[in-house]
Amino acid sequence: MADLPDGEEAPKDGALPNPDVSGGLSAYVHVPFCAVRCGYCDFNTYTNLDFGPGASTSDFPESLVREIALSRGVLRGGEAAPLIDTVFFGGGTPTMLAPKQLGSVLAALNAAFGLREGAEATTEANPESVDREGLFRLADAGFTRVSFGMQSAVESVLTTLDRRHTPGQVGRAVGWAREAGLDVSVDLIYGAPGETMGQWRRSIEAAIALEPDHLSAYALTVEPGTKMGAQAARGVIQLPDPDELADKYEAADEAFEAAGYRWYEISNWARGGRECRHNRVYWGGGNWWGYGPGAHSHINGTRFWNVKHPLAYARRVAAGESPAAAREVLMASEIADEAVMLGVRMREGIEIPRFVRAETTAGLVADGLLDGRAAVAGRIVLTLRGRLLADAVTRRLWEDLEG
Ligand SMILES: C[S@@+](CC[C@H](N)C(=O)[O-])C[C@H]1O[C@@H](n2cnc3c(N)ncnc32)[C@H](O)[C@@H]1O
Ligand code: SF4
Repeated sequence: MADLPDGEEAPKDGALPNPDVSGGLSAYVHVPFCAVRCGYCDFNTYTNLDFGPGASTSDFPESLVREIALSRGVLRGGEAAPLIDTVFFGGGTPTMLAPKQLGSVLAALNAAFGLREGAEATTEANPESVDREGLFRLADAGFTRVSFGMQSAVESVLTTLDRRHTPGQVGRAVGWAREAGLDVSVDLIYGAPGETMGQWRRSIEAAIALEPDHLSAYALTVEPGTKMGAQAARGVIQLPDPDELADKYEAADEAFEAAGYRWYEISNWARGGRECRHNRVYWGGGNWWGYGPGAHSHINGTRFWNVKHPLAYARRVAAGESPAAAREVLMASEIADEAVMLGVRMREGIEIPRFVRAETTAGLVADGLLDGRAAVAGRIVLTLRGRLLADAVTRRLWEDLEG
């Protein structure tokens, strides 16, 4: 599991340099439990479901509610009108908790800050971890959206990824979610060891056939600390080469766009304007509080992140202390760096920052990475080739900031 970054000490009472969120707030809720750990997964999650008081699936929501109370004491704003625009429950597997438990945490956020009219409330769900009644209960509790970890429609690829669901379970879960009135997103992963182009195309077609509102497609990343990382290091599995990943991305983009899904961020497509508003808050440098073990927050240029272990987290919040492990107060230059990195990944791109030299933009256009017409109009907008090399584009823009 990835280590937390270093940082300065975070105050025990959670105090922040600028706690004013009267412009709006988003909430991320991390549920760190899974039935099994998938071999590729580097997220902060555990298959032990009971670490002790406040850190078991049965009483974990109480710990979250304590952190919500702490955050209400720290943040300013929302005294006169509701504050929260978007909520996202992620994991781990949030649906390891019962709908009633998830609903109680959403209700605690609403009681503390108020959910605005039309607020977006998403939960991630593994397809095998939900049933029809549960999805109706989630909708009744105020959830508006569910994001299913489909990953692939091919049984052998699902096995390689250690997934426990069958392709058929995804279709059923999506159908129930839609009946319950929830917006639906599905996540796919491409580039699993041994996955052929034909298999990936089957997954793309199957995902489109489900008619979700939103699709995400991620290239498999293999981190050293994971089971798959160890297998790759031993040479037991072969990781895909960048050209194959690029071909798979292009195949997905072409099929999604043809089916009416517009890309709005490199790995995300939506139709009918059903983009994930919560993700836009992250990418736009907005304010969000991340609740739960290992969750990261950003409030007005201060980042902080919670202790990772569920029991350490539960003990902190039970003692009335902030669960933050450390924090970082960003300098203006770091905020600018980040705005470039995140902004270029969006369909609309960014205004050409003042520090970027004209030759740099012209070079990126000549290399086919930036849209020439947009550049003339003063914007950095990636071409399809640019989307495949977005990190390299960001590095070339950053060089001007440093130079
Ligand atoms: C953190 S998972 C949580 C959702 C849920 N537990 C699941 O797996 O379906 C969110 C999404 O991240 C993606 N993901 C996780 N690990 C990844 C990896 N190593 N490479 C690419 N995508 C990954 C998967 O598509 C997954 O659906
Ligand atoms: S189910 Fe999701 S969060 Fe859990 S181990 Fe697998 S990918 Fe990670």
